[in-house]
Amino acid sequence: MKMNVEIKEGLEGIIACKTSISRVDIEDGKAVLEYRGYNIHDLARYSTYEETAYLLLFGELPTKKELKAFEEELKDLRDLPAQIIGLLTHLPPFTHPMVVLRTAISYLGSMDKEKHFMDYEHSIQKAKSLIAKIPTIIAYFHRIRTGQNLVHPNPDLGHAENFLYMLKGEVPDRIEARALDVDLILHADHELNASTFAARIAASTLADMYACVVAATGTLMGPLHGGAAQKVIEMLREIAVPWRAEEYVLKKLERKERIMGFGHRIYRNVMDPRTIELRNLAKKLAKMKDSKWFEIAEEVAKAVYKHKGLLPNVDFYSACVYACLGIPDDLFIPIFAMGRIAGWTAHIIEQYVNNRLIRPRALYIGEKGKKYIPLRERG
Ligand code: SDX
Repeated sequence: MKMNVEIKEGLEGIIACKTSISRVDIEDGKAVLEYRGYNIHDLARYSTYEETAYLLLFGELPTKKELKAFEEELKDLRDLPAQIIGLLTHLPPFTHPMVVLRTAISYLGSMDKEKHFMDYEHSIQKAKSLIAKIPTIIAYFHRIRTGQNLVHPNPDLGHAENFLYMLKGEVPDRIEARALDVDLILHADHELNASTFAARIAASTLADMYACVVAATGTLMGPLHGGAAQKVIEMLREIAVPWRAEEYVLKKLERKERIMGFGHRIYRNVMDPRTIELRNLAKKLAKMKDSKWFEIAEEVAKAVYKHKGLLPNVDFYSACVYACLGIPDDLFIPIFAMGRIAGWTAHIIEQYVNNRLIRPRALYIGEKGKKYIPLRERG
């Protein structure tokens, strides 16, 4: 291979596939995010997670009848098989919930006799099942590791509302339930981010839906991707009071350390539209709960922009939202997955339909043409 090839190690700017699921663009100096052509601000304001998941999977907003049927199907799929509950009981309580999630998804795949069917109908069915079951896996594991009784899914509650109910054992108030619903809409898809790309690579080999989602779940956990949200709240806890924010930021920057929750591969000098929505949500919840997280976060954002010129990304204020909702720190990433599962499964199905094996090249820089020395001569 010629040595003068241009390598983009982070694949930055490389268009790796076509999609009609979501669009991320910078237009007139502003960032635009659309799911199937609908603006994220409209979806955050007027949609629900169930409706957004339907939109991502089927490509169009549902009619009232279609949405009702979809919601009922998801409700019927929320329960977990006894074997999965057994798994959650036997995993060590210190297991990170993202490790629990990828293990449980893999186990679900082992129980699905039709896992190798990549046709459209089977794929949609698996997508619905995973969208419905992931909240239950997360909530059940937390109840088990904290020695609490399981709170089974309540068919009278919506998707986000039911998750908070299963997690905390009480029906959340309307504002809290809506806050999580909006958060899940905002996390539902984001074009070809690392975890979605991992899912598409697996799907391009025609691996089954569960294998593709396990690949995505493992990728999301990294602190440079979805793992940042947990790092953000740990940072805010360490700062503890707003007036210590700038000193903390300066010390991190002096040590050339990354500040989690800031920077983005695409939104270089423009605000991520999701951050605008999540900042409003965090501000509202912090006021309602008399919580200090938003105030500390604002001081951090000011200091990072002043000293590094970086803007907050989707993980920054979502950490404040989850903290205000009383969600344990190590469940922040699983909740990101709870939102993104709709996008992942839509991309996996899109990859199955117009498939081409994803197989780039690498520039070899090692030694060449070496003579084999038999072991007895190697000393
Ligand atoms: C998500 O792709 C998606 O769409 C992802 C996502 C989605 O919805 O799926 O939006 C969700 O993953 C958001 C990102 C969450 N990750 C973090 O918050 C981790 C901290 N952020 C960074 O590590 C970084 O900003 C990335 C990984 C998000 C993007 O990194 P890039 O595009 O590879 O940028 P880079 O590493 O080339 O950095 C460019 C410069 C460097 O400075 P110099 O070495 O040139 O002086 O900016 C600096 C970096 O050091 N920099 C940071 C920084 N992010 C970039 N410096 C301090 N803190 C940071 N957070």
